[in-house]
Amino acid sequence: MRPNQIPKTYRVKSFGCQMNVYDGDRMAELLAEQGIAPAPEGEDADLVVLNTCHIREKAAEKVYSDIGRLRREDGSSPLIAVAGCVAQAEGEEIMARAPSVKMVVGPQAYHRLPEMIRDASAGQRVTDTDMPAETKFGALPKRRRSGPTAFLTVQEGCDKFCTYCVVPYTRGAEVSRPHADLIEEAKRLVDGGAREITLLGQNVNAWTGENAKGQAIGLDGLIRELAEIPDLARIRYTTSHPNDMTEGLIAAHGEVAKLMPFLHLPVQAGNDRVLNAMNRSHTVESYLRILEQVRAARPDIALSGDFIVGFPGESDAEFEDTLKLVDAVGYAQCFSFKYSPRPGTPAAAMDAQISAAVMDERLQRLQAALNRDQLAFNTASVGKTCDVLVERKGKHPGQWLGKSPWLQSVHFTGEAQVGDLVRVELTEAGPNSISAKLLETAPA
Ligand code: 5AD
Ligand code: SF4
Repeated sequence: MRPNQIPKTYRVKSFGCQMNVYDGDRMAELLAEQGIAPAPEGEDADLVVLNTCHIREKAAEKVYSDIGRLRREDGSSPLIAVAGCVAQAEGEEIMARAPSVKMVVGPQAYHRLPEMIRDASAGQRVTDTDMPAETKFGALPKRRRSGPTAFLTVQEGCDKFCTYCVVPYTRGAEVSRPHADLIEEAKRLVDGGAREITLLGQNVNAWTGENAKGQAIGLDGLIRELAEIPDLARIRYTTSHPNDMTEGLIAAHGEVAKLMPFLHLPVQAGNDRVLNAMNRSHTVESYLRILEQVRAARPDIALSGDFIVGFPGESDAEFEDTLKLVDAVGYAQCFSFKYSPRPGTPAAAMDAQISAAVMDERLQRLQAALNRDQLAFNTASVGKTCDVLVERKGKHPGQWLGKSPWLQSVHFTGEAQVGDLVRVELTEAGPNSISAKLLETAPA
């Protein structure tokens, strides 16, 4: 592309969490609105947005190697924008180290991409890592089309400051989007084809707002209102903090049929000393009490969580406590990670960093326990009848893939279409998916 030429095609590559996927989709919509088209599969794009994640190790290295890979045979590069949390945390270094990067844009500033692209096309290099008071959401185009499942960011940022985590620095303070905007965006998504909406936030259950009558409501109030949208069939939310699991939200799990029986509630570790050093501000017991209440409200709920092994100072015995917690809960599925020191976080400066070998061994043991429980959960589902929301075609002729209410991947063969809610019987469980028999073909 020659200078002064606005790009004609784009590609957005998102790494990391679901919020990054959401941000990546919104950037794509914004670019499309500017008349820039998605680059056809397998073809070079004029503009590439690398939407980065900084939560764990090697994020920055990955960005540099991606930038290197974008160089074309003739030595030229597309117009490259680095977005997301690495851009926020390390924007200056990226600009200094990678001359082919023309734009660095943080997660709260990407609504300004159109002006940045104009400046960059005119030969400037531009950085915008502001966290402006006005939110990006108002400046983004209205959402029109959607697949059967859609993400909706309702809350961003984090005030919890867990000592290992970069999110409070890269995403900023906790901010809730206004209720009216969310209801409007949700209705648009449903009009555009969404049958399931997953409400997103770094601390999604810390969402607060005011309903149309001016009453203060929490996430449970929002969920109850969204459940009134006729063609919306399913509601999910992620990710939650134990301290924001209010009574109302727990009750909603028992009362709102469209709220799916799945809860992702990270605990990180199974030992109170470690939790305290992590600044989690909950204990193992208080966490288990919440799960008990949620199970009382919705007995079939599938539980999920996040774990970190090898936090600085974690002893063998303290790690064993994590395994005990896993045994006590019986999770349906979980994410588990080796601790990664993040620059600028308190834990990175702590003594007694754990060796890679010990972390590897702990992660293997933890994942073996979690895999065992995931298979047990799936196996226990066999014989159940449930609805599956069809998301896409499978590899085999006539095969379809979708999700059960408990977020299990389900495959079946028969008459269906993307977006259908079909009734199936779960017939055979694997560790990562379940086969099912179609019971009715008419959309529910
Ligand atoms: N090292 C390893 N895992 C981390 N997470 C967050 N920060 C770190 C870190 N420094 C994990 C936590 C969190 C998930 C999104 O990522 O488990 O819940
Ligand atoms: Fe990070 Fe803790 Fe905030 Fe989650 S609650 S985003 S782990 S600081």
